[in-house]
Amino acid sequence: MLLVTGGLGYIGSHFVIVALQSGYDVVVIDNLSNSHAHTQQHIETIAQSHFQFIEGDIRNKSLLERIFKQYQIDTVIHFAGLKAVAESVVSPMRYYDNNVYGSLVLLEAMQEHCIQKIVFSSSATVYGEPQYLPYDEKHPTIPINPYGHTKLHVENVLQDVCQADKDFAAVTLRYFNPIGAHPSGLIGENPKDIPNNLMPYIVKVAQGNLPYLQVFGDDYDTRDGTGERDYIYVMDLVQGHLAALSYLNKKGFHIFNLGTGTGTTVLELVAAFEAANSVTINQRVMPRREGDLSKFWANPSLAKTELNWQAVTPLHVSCLLNS
Ligand code: NAD
Ligand code: UFG
Repeated sequence: MLLVTGGLGYIGSHFVIVALQSGYDVVVIDNLSNSHAHTQQHIETIAQSHFQFIEGDIRNKSLLERIFKQYQIDTVIHFAGLKAVAESVVSPMRYYDNNVYGSLVLLEAMQEHCIQKIVFSSSATVYGEPQYLPYDEKHPTIPINPYGHTKLHVENVLQDVCQADKDFAAVTLRYFNPIGAHPSGLIGENPKDIPNNLMPYIVKVAQGNLPYLQVFGDDYDTRDGTGERDYIYVMDLVQGHLAALSYLNKKGFHIFNLGTGTGTTVLELVAAFEAANSVTINQRVMPRREGDLSKFWANPSLAKTELNWQAVTPLHVSCLLNS
């Protein structure tokens, strides 16, 4: 049985669907700080299957202990975390508390209940300024913001735990830029505040909820001057987690990039979205956003050879509002 932390959030909810469809029993813990309780029903409707949802915080150790006593959990898929880079610069302690301390409490409770398998949601942000591209897993890790530091701290903790306990298995997945939603249109990326990320912002503009897209900088060293990223369809991303689950039979600490291997600029993504959905996105070029890197994308070949996983969905399909 799987414990999915943050399982009602954007990526977690898409993962729970494929996990249920693959026959896993699932328990979700989520404190709803960035998600909605009604997402449970949507997931269950899509997957035609039920799961247990516990509203609570991973920093609540006695709650975790109750969950581990009540359910036969053997593996944790750890999505719960805060993820807004700019917010992490303003409130670093919130990020260390939630992301690092939360993961420590989770790992401690796991160890006390002899649960020795975990998949952890990390981020390409751990690499920092590219020394070469595409980033492979051996690229130096020098994050440039507190959010990235918290992810790297947890990676280091997992590595040390695996070193100390030879029966422990941890797979760290470094996501590039997840986009899109389940084809049903029932769930998607639905942040509680104004989106920070490009794709959900474009969607709000398309829906008329925001007046125009701010294009942060058009003077980068890229094809059209706008920032370049590796956008990966969320359904491909969660398939990577199923592959990682199987890989947990190998003990020890393992890291994989989950990306497509292709860079797309802001203007290219907007054009793909407009074409896919027959809409026009109002846009204005603004100054660069502080802390943004010019361009980065993944070398995903390790995930292909080791996990037998690769992203397969073309960009115009990941851009569809719903199909
Ligand atoms: P999200 O905010 O949609 O989902 C995170 C979920 O965790 C939310 O439902 C939130 O309510 C919950 N949560 C947060 N702190 C919690 C706590 N202390 N206890 C219990 N629940 C808690 O974010 P997401 O995009 O689904 O991201 C999932 C994970 O992937 C995060 O760890 C994030 O850092 C990582 N990640 C995301 C991206 C991205 O662009 N979306 C990229 C790289 C890595
Ligand atoms: N951008 C805009 N306008 C917006 C939002 C973004 O022009 O309103 C641009 C950015 O300047 C950047 C690109 O779109 O060039 C992508 O920006 P996002 O905010 O969508 O994504 P980032 O690459 O900045 O960061 C995201 C997550 C991080 C994660 C990283 C790598 O927010 O948590 O991807 O996985 F670490």
